[in-house]
Amino acid sequence: MRLAVLLSGRGSNFASIHEAIAKGRLDAEIAAVISNRADAPGIQRARDWGYDARVIDNRQFPNRAAHESEIRKVLDEARPDIIVMAGYMRLLSATFVAAWMNRIVNIHPSLLPSFPGVDAQAQALAHGVKVTGCTVHFVDEGLDAGPIIVQRTVEVRDDDSVETLSARILEQEHIAYVDALRILAAGNYVIEGRRVRRMK
Ligand code: GAR
Repeated sequence: MRLAVLLSGRGSNFASIHEAIAKGRLDAEIAAVISNRADAPGIQRARDWGYDARVIDNRQFPNRAAHESEIRKVLDEARPDIIVMAGYMRLLSATFVAAWMNRIVNIHPSLLPSFPGVDAQAQALAHGVKVTGCTVHFVDEGLDAGPIIVQRTVEVRDDDSVETLSARILEQEHIAYVDALRILAAGNYVIEGRRVRRMK
């Protein structure tokens, strides 16, 4: 399974996927890493590890379509089976999503459909939920909305801050993303409406 990773920042989810592949826990290959930010620590890690790492800065394009068309050129070369959004903080257009239907995955730091959008961990604390977590899902044209592949839960503690809660969710994200990609690599699943079901 060939992967293209899209990121905007730290890249810890990308790092955990890289490590899973390196240690033989995930049968996949990272064919390209694309960041929309030149200063993303994740793109530096990608270079250090010898990946084809590209910065395609959205601020240098007049609109979303022009930016995405540049991304699509890299993807056409890299020929990924799956596009992995790993902290990629830009919405993909409906046209882009349609071109890669059921082949783009994202991770979000809440139990969707609760708390989509930005600052999901702060939203969870503000709402007072006792359990939150993370979700790996296929990307559709909605915001953090497509069919769910894997979720992992995290208990909210009385003394949690956004930072402490985010850190515990992140540990679970790293497990969840690799688990989800292992399901996709095995190919033994079906998408039926919103449900992603594993076949025995
Ligand atoms: C992760 O917590 C991820 O769930 C979140 O950004 C962080 C990226 O961390 N993504 C979103 O909020 C997307 N809506 P990372 O760069 O260390 O992987």
